[in-house]
Amino acid sequence: MRIYDIISDKRDNKELTDEQIRFFVKGYTKGEIEHYHASALLMAIYLNGMTDRETVTLTKEMAESGDMLDLSAIDGITVDKHSTGGVGDKTTLIVAPIVASVGLKTAKMSGRGLGHTGGTIDKLESIDGFCTSLSPEIFIDKVKKHGICVVGQSGDLAPADKKIYALRDATATVGSMPLIASSIMSKKLAAGASCIVLDVKTGSGAFMKTPEDAEALSEKMVNIGKSAGRKVAAVISDMDTPLGKNIGNSLEVIEAVEVLKNGENSDLREVSLVLAGNIIALAEGISADEGIKKATAQLESGAAYEKFREFISAQGGDLRQIDDPSLFKQPLYSSDVLCAEDGFIGSMNAEMIGSASVILGAGRVKKDDPIDHSAGIILHRKTGDRVLKGEKIATLYTDSKESFDSAEKLIRQSITVTSEKIERPPLIYKVIY
Ligand code: URA
Repeated sequence: MRIYDIISDKRDNKELTDEQIRFFVKGYTKGEIEHYHASALLMAIYLNGMTDRETVTLTKEMAESGDMLDLSAIDGITVDKHSTGGVGDKTTLIVAPIVASVGLKTAKMSGRGLGHTGGTIDKLESIDGFCTSLSPEIFIDKVKKHGICVVGQSGDLAPADKKIYALRDATATVGSMPLIASSIMSKKLAAGASCIVLDVKTGSGAFMKTPEDAEALSEKMVNIGKSAGRKVAAVISDMDTPLGKNIGNSLEVIEAVEVLKNGENSDLREVSLVLAGNIIALAEGISADEGIKKATAQLESGAAYEKFREFISAQGGDLRQIDDPSLFKQPLYSSDVLCAEDGFIGSMNAEMIGSASVILGAGRVKKDDPIDHSAGIILHRKTGDRVLKGEKIATLYTDSKESFDSAEKLIRQSITVTSEKIERPPLIYKVIY
């Protein structure tokens, strides 16, 4: 078999065989296929797409390119949740303890933030002492004992994806539906959980800018998961406006704790309950409505908050910060963004707001950039809210005073003020099973 023929077949829009796909994934992972050959094939896939069978095979090969986590030592149903990435998306911190509190086993590998989107590992590491790097044995042991453990992705999980993703990034081929679906699902399959709920974001702050694209991606990923014998659902949720009011690592932990303490109704609470409810529904074979009811009861009774505290403590986190947020490292400076006119917030561009938080120090431009866990933004107004001239729309937090001007400029550009009240887009568009 020659990589040249695989490229020319895809270029001519022919369906690749399983053997051809295996040859490419194995060869490229081992370094036996040149980057220029792999680049040409990725571009042919980007332009001509892949059939469902090709996408399933590509995912399976990528998943099996490294360690496949064996969770069989864990009694009970293992569950996982994955977000396609957003701004202010701290749902894992709420969903994982809710589902663990009903007895499901959350064995979760999470990522760090990159670009305008945040990552769960950075958020958890804003808690003093919290350890996100554990051996597979300790990871499994903690899931057995506490029903929940969240760690960073292990070095050898789906190494083919790591290599292919880096090449896609450099060759303008990231935005391909089969390549995104196989990239995400290869890691989910390798991480081993039997029930997986995907939170597929749509809107200005998401990969998928339209609900139609989010639905197409969801269908592909659900199909891949089912073909691998897993139970999978995809919740399509809004990421046009940031989720919740806090953006930035410790700020997001603090907001998640407010929801877990059964704080007021909010978009964050609603999306978290739908995600948790769908995980419970998949795992227990009940309807989504019944699952959401169960999730709500766990939140309202305080059981989810108790589980959260157990989880933070089990991974070495300082519970005093959970009880008293003023004990988190505090930013040196803060600055308010005031509204320039009376009206209603017509829209908020989540990507720009995420980029403003990166400028303040909360995120990274490059993979290994350092971050400031205390930096970020609190939004005082969201899409659809009434605003008056001179009122605070947002407060910015940072250790580097020089970043205020450009962050404020971006926040102002991200927000439109209209004279008529605009309804916020739906929070949940659809659930795909
Ligand atoms: N997230 C991933 O893990 N892979 C992609 O291709 C896109 C988003």
